[in-house]
Amino acid sequence: MEEKKFYPTQSYMDYRHKALENIEEFWAKEAESIPWFKHWEKTLVWDEPFAKWFQGGMTNASYACLDAHLATDQKNKVAYYWEDEFGNTRTYSYLQLYAEVNKFASALKKIGVKKGDIVMMYLPMILELPIAMLAATRLGAAHSIVFSGFSSQALADRIIDTEAKVLITADFGLRRGKYFDLKAIADAAVKSCPTIKHVVVVKRGPAGQEVKMEHGRDIYYHDALKTADAYIPPEQVESSNPLYILYTSGTTGKPKGIVHCTGGYLVYARSTFKWVFNPSPDSIYWCTADIGWVTGHTYIVYAPLVYGVTSFMYEGSADYPAIDRWWELVEKYKISILYTSPTALRMFMKFGDEPINKHNMSSLKLLGSVGEPINPEVWEWYYRTIGKNRCPIVDTWWQTETGGILISPAPGGGLVPLKPGSATMPLPGIDAAVLDETGKEVEDGTRGFLVIRKPWPGMLMTLHKDPARYKEVYWSKFKGIYLAGDYAIRDKDGYFWLLGRADETLKVAGHRLGTAEIESAAVSMPFVAEAAVVGVPDPMKGEEIVLFAILRQGHEPSEDNRKKLSAGIRTLIGPIAVPKEIHFVAKLPKTRSGKIMRRILKALATNSGIGDVTTLEDATSVEEIKKTYEEMKAMMGKK
Ligand code: WTA
Repeated sequence: MEEKKFYPTQSYMDYRHKALENIEEFWAKEAESIPWFKHWEKTLVWDEPFAKWFQGGMTNASYACLDAHLATDQKNKVAYYWEDEFGNTRTYSYLQLYAEVNKFASALKKIGVKKGDIVMMYLPMILELPIAMLAATRLGAAHSIVFSGFSSQALADRIIDTEAKVLITADFGLRRGKYFDLKAIADAAVKSCPTIKHVVVVKRGPAGQEVKMEHGRDIYYHDALKTADAYIPPEQVESSNPLYILYTSGTTGKPKGIVHCTGGYLVYARSTFKWVFNPSPDSIYWCTADIGWVTGHTYIVYAPLVYGVTSFMYEGSADYPAIDRWWELVEKYKISILYTSPTALRMFMKFGDEPINKHNMSSLKLLGSVGEPINPEVWEWYYRTIGKNRCPIVDTWWQTETGGILISPAPGGGLVPLKPGSATMPLPGIDAAVLDETGKEVEDGTRGFLVIRKPWPGMLMTLHKDPARYKEVYWSKFKGIYLAGDYAIRDKDGYFWLLGRADETLKVAGHRLGTAEIESAAVSMPFVAEAAVVGVPDPMKGEEIVLFAILRQGHEPSEDNRKKLSAGIRTLIGPIAVPKEIHFVAKLPKTRSGKIMRRILKALATNSGIGDVTTLEDATSVEEIKKTYEEMKAMMGKK
């Protein structure tokens, strides 16, 4: 692979090397960059696999992101520019954001929110979302955000798990130029959540359009602010106080509640932001993710704010109202750092270079990618057409669990030569390796399981209400070592190539979904007896969902049932989980122990043949597998 011309600094290599020699000393130094009310006593308490970073230290995320900037001119710097699909704009300086967060924290306090609570948020990409996050954290409460594209059932499941008393939502959401009644979806969820006592509603929809408000339970955000105090002292919390819980898909039907702490997370967010995005005081930074996912949590809210940069936030689709909408915004706001996903890039690539070339892209200095592997062709196109051959690309590998980026080029430290398609090397303090089934490091160039061998400050603390599952999922395959769940290769130069998930989770348009989660939604339909989901490669979305289902007796494999099944999944999870294809079959291929043979299903879905089946881990004979495959193929009418 051709190498791009950015040169390694030996000092960065030495720095990385030194960091790993003594991670506590290394992270203690990094931690001095965030404000503390009380200095920590112990950098790391490692009660394997539970980490407490900066134990004894007292801080507050709202304080670190806002109050800490008020002493200097920084207070007048823009924290967020915001724009929607219609061209409506808003701008908040750090001081204005501080004032609004204080008022909303006061409003939340008046309805009883306090330290130890979990506040649910189901909001579109409007500025009230970061405001609500910072307001909750100001009171020492944790937030749990549910992506506003998830269904009412998905929202209800998460509220039930957190037992939250307060939900913050909006009257309307916005999708491709049309408002939709978000409040009605929230209401449907709250119906089955008796713990919710208050629903705060941000009014942002078109003038004159009202949504249903329930007397005594619902209150408008702007009304709540009317009686609010102007200042609420930030609650001084322990470094390990939960900052948020974010649900993500795993290999069972039930999403995992990832718990992140305050102190370690903030330190990690800040340091990685500095290394990877190399911001300067006049940078205008745009991360195109939705705050409902971890990328938005860390790299739209906490990292940029704690660092003190100016961000741009966009509410809207990437190709609406026109396919050059993003490039118009890059030009208008003079974006210098752009952080986006391979799925978006693949879509733009399809539109060709013209929508980009007609805009002035000279403000761009650095480009980022996240969420899924970026194919080398897309990487090259990003580099050439958007970056005009002068902006390094940071391909950042990380997960909801890791809190921040772990493997990425680091222009803010020392930029190694880039190889399109590789996330390059672990960041300082990150001990990544590739292991085989037995826990031995594989030879360079060989595929294996990606692991992290030393704790890091951004790591998850546990799974909400389920420490046993936390141990089991991440720490049981290799003792004392974090299992990421991805396959990877390290090449002879020490570069990491991420090869996608090694478990039964999918990445559809960069969104993480569990096969079991979709299967359990499918079998909850009264006419479905059994279901199995596989991910198949898709040129645009990276992966797509293909579902195989056995119908209950008396139900026909009709178009109508196919539609009903899709609609059911949409209602239970959301539009992102709707399969691209549904095959009704009479049986599913299973091993003798009853495990679904996904390899066969994958081969059927892609019509690619089963290939080398001798490496299948189960005792099922090769003959049997071939026979099952042929039977299934005949059943599906494929030649
Ligand atoms: C995948 C998103 C290849 C990976 C921040 C990981 C990537 C999962 C990359 C986590 C990348 C993320 N290259 N694969 N640069 N970034 N992934 O929790 O499979 O939504 O395990 O976090 O996304 O997804 P999550």
